[in-house]
Parts: sequence; C-alpha cells; structure tokens
Amino acid sequence: MDASADTISALLLTWYDRQARVLPWRSPPGTPPPEPYRVWLSEVMLQQTTVAAVGPYFAKFLARWPTVSELAAAEDAEVMGAWAGLGYYARARNLLACARAVAARGGVFPQTEAELRELPGLGAYTAAAVAAIAFGERATVVDANVERVVARLFAIDEPLPAARKAIRARAEELTPETRAGDFAQAMMDLGATVCTSRGARCLLCPLAEKCAGRRQGAERFPVKPAKAAKPQRKGQAFWIERAGAVWLVQRPGTGMLGGMRALPDDGWSARGDGSGNGPLSGKWASGGVVRHGFTHFDLDLQLMLYSGGDLDRLAPDSGEWWPLDRIEQAGLPTLFAKAARLALAQQEDLGE
Ligand code: ADE
Repeated sequence: MDASADTISALLLTWYDRQARVLPWRSPPGTPPPEPYRVWLSEVMLQQTTVAAVGPYFAKFLARWPTVSELAAAEDAEVMGAWAGLGYYARARNLLACARAVAARGGVFPQTEAELRELPGLGAYTAAAVAAIAFGERATVVDANVERVVARLFAIDEPLPAARKAIRARAEELTPETRAGDFAQAMMDLGATVCTSRGARCLLCPLAEKCAGRRQGAERFPVKPAKAAKPQRKGQAFWIERAGAVWLVQRPGTGMLGGMRALPDDGWSARGDGSGNGPLSGKWASGGVVRHGFTHFDLDLQLMLYSGGDLDRLAPDSGEWWPLDRIEQAGLPTLFAKAARLALAQQEDLGE
C-alpha cells in the first residue's frame, strides 16, 4: 500500500469513527464484530436493496430464525413467503442453500474469503463482506456505493462496466491491513450519505483533498454506458374468487419469482393481444393494468377478473383457495401484491 492509500484509509476510518450509521446488523466502529450470521444475512438482503427497505425484513428473519441452523431447518415456502416484497427472489433460494451448507458444518461459518466462496449460493461480494466485517480479514468489498466513491476519487473515466477492473484494483490498494470491515462499511456510508448518486457533497467529504474527480466535477464519475432501452413486456394475471377466497398457485422453482406464491398468469410473453381466457373458460372482464419494473424489462400486467363459469375445472392440486382476509400473509411478491390490491380496490368501489 502506498503512502497516499494509507492516508486515504486513515482519513476515512477517522470519519467513520464519528459518522458511522447506526444499523441493526452492525457493531459500532472499532468494537468486536457482530455474529457472522447477522453479517451474512444482512449482506445478502442489502444487495440491490436499500438499508431502509431491509430493516424490517432483517428484524423479522432474526426473530423467526435466530440462528443459521434454525433458518436451515425452515421449509422453503416459509422462507420464500418471509422474503416476499424484498425482490430478487433468487437471493432467498441461495440464502437457504447456503444456510443448509453451514448447518451441515455444525452451524459454523468458515472464516476466510476463499472458504466462504466455496459455499453454495454465496457469491464473491458476500464472501468478501462477511470475511471483512465478521472476521476482520483484509478482503475488499465492492458494491455500487464503493464503485462510485472509488471512480470519483481516482477520476476513472473509462465507462462502466469495463471500469470495474480498475475500480477493484484501486479499492484493493486502499483496503487497510486492519479494520477492513470498518473500512468497507465506511466506504458504503460515504457513498450512501456524502458521495451519493444524486450528488456529491464535497464540502462534507473527509477525502475531498485527495479526490481527483472533485477537480473535474465529481458527478461525472463513474461514467455510465450508453443506456439500452428496457424492453417492455405484456402479460395477464387471473383473479378467480369464490366465497371470500382467491385462487393462488405456486410458481415453478426456477425462473422469474421462482417458488413464490402468485396469481395464475399467462407467462408474460404476449404482445398484449391475449384472448383473456386464462385458466378457465367463462366470463372474464378487465380489472386494469399493473406496471412493474424488473431489472431487465418492464412489465404491463393486465389483471383479468373471473365473473362466472365453471370453477370445478380448476385442477385441485394446481393451486389453493386463499382466504381474502389473510391475503397479506400469502407472501405474494410485489407484482402480484399490486395486482391483488387492484382487484380488492375495485370490490371496495362496488361497495362489496
Ligand atoms: N450495504 C451493503 N452492506 C452494507 C452495510 N454493511 N452497511 C451499510 N450498507 C450496506
């Protein structure tokens, strides 16, 4: 590590000692680390998800499954249901795969980045974060916040994603021998509160004197790739109701929203000219459209309401009647929760 890397990490750690955000999965700066289970669970939840959104889920998971072995023993469907609303559901499947592998080792996480990386369902980011934060290993953690801070600090003008290699190399140089976990979280906090995607508040920044990007206008960095328009897909979901209950299915284990409870749908590959027949013949009416943004496409999901016909033709083992007064507990992912809200709002409008 060269002298200026030493100075930068020292400046940042001094700032963190005073400014660290107080978060439920953290220990205060300079104190013994939190349990690996808490670190791992929070880091999985925090990928692509904000601190504010994760808070209640983290509390719920810890209350329900206080140890990794208890989580490992849970039913898949229970965990998928508890994850509902956090998005990126592959994370919940990976979480369980990893929990079960750790439980098979007696509930003890391995302590190095390399060994953590060998666990199923645990990627490079999480391995580095757990090694640094829970075990104090000198591992370099790069998330979107860290990426932005480093690209600005060194005025890296290569566009993303190609710039990632240079960004990682710079971040590795900066990582100190001790307090690597605090350092990683200090970078994250700086990126979340000072050097943000909405603007760079350089007057508050402990690294301003050292920042090459600041002299050129920090907000130019990281340089974004030309954006391809997100494709727009259309689909239909089917609301079938009987005696205060709605027909829900379980989605196949792989693919979008895999393993989640859901409304029946048409696979979302239509161009919007579906016939609206759904899983039953009979009378269908449009109940409006739900818009939802996924990472790689936007979806317009037309809600079709069933209004009479032949319910006996629903194959009993293809789904279940779920009581409407317990719909909140069904663990519907956000797309289908929005659709359910739309269907139920229409009933309220009709004074039902
Ligand atoms: N984002 C990802 N990991 C985080 C952490 N440990 N603290 C704050 N934000 C984070």
